[in-house]
Amino acid sequence: KRSKRFEKLDKRPVNQDSFFVEWAEGGLSAMNSPYDPQPGIRIEDGKIVEMDGKRYEDFDSLELFIAQYGINPERAEWAMSHSAAAIARMIVDINIKREDIIKITTAITPAKMLQVVKCLNAVELMMGQMKMRVRKTPANQAIVTNIKDHPALLAADAAEAALRGFSEIETTCAVSRYAPFNALAILVGAQTCRGGVLTQCSMEESLEVRMGMLGLTSYAETVSLYGTEAAMDDGDDTIWSKAFLSSVYASRGIKMRVTSGTGAEVLLGHSDKKSMLYLEILCVFLARACGAQGVQNGSISCIGITTAVPEGFLAIAAENLVVSLLDLEVASGNDQTFSHSDLRRTAKLLMQMMPGTDFITSGYSATPNFDDLFAGSNTDCDDYDDYYMIQRDMQIDGGIEPILEEDAITVRNKAARACQAVFKGLGLPPITEEEVEAATYAYSNEEMPNRHMAADLVAAQEFLNKGVNAIDIAGALYRYGFPEVAENVLMMLKERVCGDYLQVAAIFDREFHTLGGLNDPNDYQGPGTGYRLKGERWEKLKKKPSALVPDKIL
Ligand code: 5AD
Ligand code: CA
Repeated sequence: KRSKRFEKLDKRPVNQDSFFVEWAEGGLSAMNSPYDPQPGIRIEDGKIVEMDGKRYEDFDSLELFIAQYGINPERAEWAMSHSAAAIARMIVDINIKREDIIKITTAITPAKMLQVVKCLNAVELMMGQMKMRVRKTPANQAIVTNIKDHPALLAADAAEAALRGFSEIETTCAVSRYAPFNALAILVGAQTCRGGVLTQCSMEESLEVRMGMLGLTSYAETVSLYGTEAAMDDGDDTIWSKAFLSSVYASRGIKMRVTSGTGAEVLLGHSDKKSMLYLEILCVFLARACGAQGVQNGSISCIGITTAVPEGFLAIAAENLVVSLLDLEVASGNDQTFSHSDLRRTAKLLMQMMPGTDFITSGYSATPNFDDLFAGSNTDCDDYDDYYMIQRDMQIDGGIEPILEEDAITVRNKAARACQAVFKGLGLPPITEEEVEAATYAYSNEEMPNRHMAADLVAAQEFLNKGVNAIDIAGALYRYGFPEVAENVLMMLKERVCGDYLQVAAIFDREFHTLGGLNDPNDYQGPGTGYRLKGERWEKLKKKPSALVPDKIL
């Protein structure tokens, strides 16, 4: 006979999640494999000749790359002379400056880094993240996709996401040949709301580079790194090809961060018995060695595996912190959905939302999750009000802000019309009045009329073949009644030539000024310092239109 109480518990959402016991040999350990190497370093003639128990001649290609480019050899012996516990304590010690910690953490080895972050408990990891992230002002990133790849809806959703305050917006496609239109739609939609929102369209790399060079996108973040050679091999890549690709983007003025995250190697069957966190630390060192300005990590698409074993959230908070400890921009996950439990997904989110990171989520779904072509996010458009209330409850800046329904409708309509104007100006298959109207008020793709897909795809191919670029888009916007949107699109191109937004953790603020580690450095040093949610921003974030007002109660 069963206990009614246990029977009920078995049916709770959390018990639809998958869980595994730890198994280091199979790579199923978040941060505690007995096969993780012990830290150590030996320098000869200014070169690293031994690292974490391995000699130079035995290094694999990843270790070689890290030893050559990823660790400061001048400071290495001094940095390694600190105990892991001493470094961990400095990270949470308010009397010790971020820049002094960076001097140490950019000169230690991966195995040492693992030991350092393993000294920190959940709250200490958050304290470390609050102090160590590069940019003082936190920000957030949105996903804008829909399963119809409908351009008017993409434009409207991008505009609303920009209005809610997202600094970066990413898209991808249901049908890959739609890519240039999806990139165009979110570019036009975002710039309709405010100048300076960065956008990307995640595609196969050669197409993504091409769209970037045409000015259709302004950042890239899906060059994946893996922590073992075999996993890297799986994608026909080497760390040199990844480094080359990173430079390709950056050298053309496209903001570039790589993607990595715990769990990828074990899912690919190439974990080499190492813990997920150790392998991810190798990836973050590789990111720095490649010269990428930042990392999107926090397990990302592999979050189901990391959160299935003990200490999963801890390992993920630690991998985010390691990015900041290597002085890189962190876009800290909370993107792909991992749990049926609202409690668990909120707990996970808070580990990055409470301290603040450079991008608290690296993909908040600005649409309902069923339209999210990145496989569904930990938070979607149905969660906005919950998210705002958490910001209000704890005086936390989660990087987005409440908006009024009428403002959303206005900006959605304008964005859909701007997109319509561009399609008209460039001779693309027309966007009808009916489509504009539907996009203005839509919840999801379901309210959108179907487009003539064959005609769209032929036009998209031609668009690419002709090399239509952002100048042409600005021209069409200007000619067909959207000069201020044209101006913003043109400004994005000017900024690319000047390149300030390629600096670490740079975004554009609401006045189109670059905001990053150089001019907005995180100066947290205890109570009263660092980023504080106050003044106008706090007034905005604490607004709750349905809150009762005293004279209305009486
Ligand atoms: N490690 C490496 N790359 C990842 N991606 C997602 N999760 C990981 C991970 N844990 C990459 C995918 C895709 C994009 C969404 O990010 O390969 O390109
Ligand atoms: Ca992302």
